[in-house]
Amino acid sequence: MAKVKVKTGFVCSDCGATYPKWQGHCSACDAWSTIKEVRLGPEPRPGRRDGFAGTTSPVTLLKDVQLTDEHRFSSGSEEFDRVLGGGFVPGSVILIGGDPGAGKSTILLQTMCHAAESREVLYVSGEESLQQIAGRARRLQLPLDRVKMLAESSVERVLEAAESERPAVVVIDSIQVMQSAAVDAAPGGVSQVRESAAAFTCFAKTSGVVLIMVGHVTKDQALAGPMTLSHMVDTQVMLSSTEDARYRLMRTTKNRFGPVNELGVFAMTEKGLREVKNPSAIFLSRTENAAPGSLISVLWEGTRPLLVEIQSLVVSAQYGSPRRLGIGLDQNRIAMVLAVINKHGGLVLADQDVFVNVVGGIRVLETSADLAVALAIVSSFRNSVLPQDLLVFGEVGLSGEIRPVSNGESRLKEGVKHGFTRAIVPKGNAPKKEIPGMKVVGVTSLSEALDAI
Ligand code: TYD
Ligand code: MG
Repeated sequence: MAKVKVKTGFVCSDCGATYPKWQGHCSACDAWSTIKEVRLGPEPRPGRRDGFAGTTSPVTLLKDVQLTDEHRFSSGSEEFDRVLGGGFVPGSVILIGGDPGAGKSTILLQTMCHAAESREVLYVSGEESLQQIAGRARRLQLPLDRVKMLAESSVERVLEAAESERPAVVVIDSIQVMQSAAVDAAPGGVSQVRESAAAFTCFAKTSGVVLIMVGHVTKDQALAGPMTLSHMVDTQVMLSSTEDARYRLMRTTKNRFGPVNELGVFAMTEKGLREVKNPSAIFLSRTENAAPGSLISVLWEGTRPLLVEIQSLVVSAQYGSPRRLGIGLDQNRIAMVLAVINKHGGLVLADQDVFVNVVGGIRVLETSADLAVALAIVSSFRNSVLPQDLLVFGEVGLSGEIRPVSNGESRLKEGVKHGFTRAIVPKGNAPKKEIPGMKVVGVTSLSEALDAI
């Protein structure tokens, strides 16, 4: 029998850089103590690197490259389709990451049961037994008839089954429990995850199946295993839970076939995950008594608006240097907004602790909440309540100017739908034609916005 040549090397578990010898410091990503000895498995065949089945092809002009139709098909869930940029692309590899209990297995089981009604689906579970999964599927009253199941953690046997079944979609739950015989290491380790993922990716690229891998995340929300996992896949989707665990948010952090940062929202119920078709107001908690420091802003998430409540608390600092804490916001943006308030708003907050929170566990990834953050801070500092029907958005610049943001008019219209009757927005976003039911004040600077409240 021909002996399989096994190559060993030293690989950084953060960035995937390889070294011939052990060293304490990874010179590629500057991390310490991340380099581990791994068995790299058999040498890749020529023309196949990192699982990509590229054969040696001649140099071609870009205009001469023949386009193949993408033929996307539905994942079985509208929200999931939206996050992916319009459904599954054949031959693509999707990685779904999230905390334990985020609902990765649940969402995949639900969507696959529906997808199986029109395509062949193979669901490979290495974590839960088939009885467990079947029990859950029955309880959720999912269509069970056509989903093919396999309880297996050997990469070779999974590939064998996939070869013979020829499904359109293969789900691997999860990549951390998969084990390839070509690698002499424990499952979940850097080398196992890397080699297993490479083998599955290669299979997807050559056979055209959609391959979905579930990946666990570590404490700091990074995907467990090598960083190369993220580089290997076409689409990386993260599933996270809101603070009260009622909702699950799905977001792409990488997508070769569509936009990133499209947000999908699901509600976790006793009947499994339910799509939230119109999530714009789910994070608003309207109470009778408005408190100082609270203000509503409207974010733009991919293709949809999302109303969020920004809360701020400003209190005299008790000890030493004052604290600045942001939950759901970038710390540096808060520091910048505070500096602008100081310089252009004439408020001195140097001896105050400042806390800012985005209600509901949402993470703000854009700059349109700046103005709302600034006004919420001022409102808390002055201990004055802002009107409950006021909507604020806009980017704050370093010289105190308020810059327009994208989709201004649509954001305002969403506000009208939810009963907001006034808004303070960047002048550039103030609509030319009046929006019925909404009194819009366009401002160009922070001081104008402060005058407006
Ligand atoms: P699961 O899909 O097993 O999470 P993951 O695969 O990401 O680890 O989800 C389990 C969680 O979802 C668990 O905390 C219970 C909750 N859940 C419900 O609330 N209702 C349901 O109908 C189901 C199936 C799960
Ligand atoms: Mg699971």
